Amino acid sequence: MINMFVSECLGVNDRGDLTIGGADTVELAREYGTPLYVMDEAMIRDNLSRFRDSMNKYYNGKAEVHYASKAFSCMEICRIANEEGVGLDVVSMGELYTAYKAGFPMEKIGFHGNNKTDDELTFAVEHGVGRIIVDNLSELRRLEKIAAENSKVPAIMFRIKPGIDAHTHKAVLTGQIDSKFGFALETGEAFEAVKEAIACKNVTLSGLHCHIGSQIFDIDPFEQAAKVMLGFIAEIKSKLGYEIRELNLGGGYGIKYLEFHDPAPFEMYAERVSAVVHSECERLGIAQPFMYIEPGRSIVASAGITLYTVGSRKEIPGIRTYVSIDGGMADNPRYILYESEYEAVVANKASQERSEKVTIAGRCCESGDLIGENMPLQHAESGDILAVLATGAYNYSMASSYNRLPKPAVVFVKDGKSRVVVKRESLDDIIKNDV
Ligand code: LLP
Repeated sequence: MINMFVSECLGVNDRGDLTIGGADTVELAREYGTPLYVMDEAMIRDNLSRFRDSMNKYYNGKAEVHYASKAFSCMEICRIANEEGVGLDVVSMGELYTAYKAGFPMEKIGFHGNNKTDDELTFAVEHGVGRIIVDNLSELRRLEKIAAENSKVPAIMFRIKPGIDAHTHKAVLTGQIDSKFGFALETGEAFEAVKEAIACKNVTLSGLHCHIGSQIFDIDPFEQAAKVMLGFIAEIKSKLGYEIRELNLGGGYGIKYLEFHDPAPFEMYAERVSAVVHSECERLGIAQPFMYIEPGRSIVASAGITLYTVGSRKEIPGIRTYVSIDGGMADNPRYILYESEYEAVVANKASQERSEKVTIAGRCCESGDLIGENMPLQHAESGDILAVLATGAYNYSMASSYNRLPKPAVVFVKDGKSRVVVKRESLDDIIKNDV
């Protein structure tokens, strides 16, 4: 029964129950209630260290991994990232504050966002956030003023649109010219912005950043992006005599949601992209910049599952069978947003055949509230525990309280033991801000 599921942290025990990180998911559902997010801590740590080690290996120690906390943020994951020697990518005051309260070293944080507020920039400057990734000229000018008022000189990077088509879903494609993120290269916008930044007294332009999209399987677009960005660094050097010392190539590494998905191991990305970086630097006569990457999904997605209790089952003859669960778009909005596909298992029947094809429906008042259609599944009945797999990224972090559903708890398992890292919201949490 080895590797019968999309994620290596899952298995089946003697009782025929699905396990994650050695823990019985049916027991977890009983102990903590459903819906419930469960994540295998060992796998998260392993992913973090594999990314860290391969970047160090292929860039001779001149590299840092920043975990993109938008994929899944809470104080404990910040502590774990820190313990594993990895920095953080944050994109809002909420993510930054979470890291801050978790005691995360501020100098190892890259602060993103296409529309940061003055309050956010002030907090970042005052607390010494390592790199502020500036998205546009308005931000550069506001930051320069805020830095001057605080007598600080923050290090910044520029977010660049490298104009790469990464063949991914259009909602998660970000590197092309028609994107709300960053400065365009083709139009000369980025070059003019670099000139302006170099002339600023209260910011130091230390590097360039790009992020070409998410859930990308090909390595080619990452190689192309590296070439484009290094070309720009060389242009800045030759035309302005200014050395850009750092390059951040963003995140976007694909993961296995379905059996036929076959993402390359990260080591292969690192090997191939670093080879391009080394050869391009030599060809262009520039020093190898200090390299960053920002994986999010590939750190946490496969480590997570969501457990639900099956409620009703509705067979519509000749049409389809709906299996309804006690969660849905409020805890996993990725089907309604992107038609993202998942593998599902009846956790208490995990050793049985997936003999049916069903539509898994959520409990929200919205017809589109589905987890998936045409999903192979064991025969599911009321009271069964349903597990949706590889939900560790962009599920908890994108959860809403639609229909005033309290957010599920997040439980981490390690060596068969479990602990709560985010408590379940209570009904009183739901009304706590109502006046
Ligand atoms: N760096 C930047 C600047 C980003 O914008 C992102 C993701 C990442 C890193 C991390 O990318 P990853 O390694 O996780 O692919 N909500 C969508 C994904 C949106 C990704 C946004 N940016 C989803 O559920 O598929």
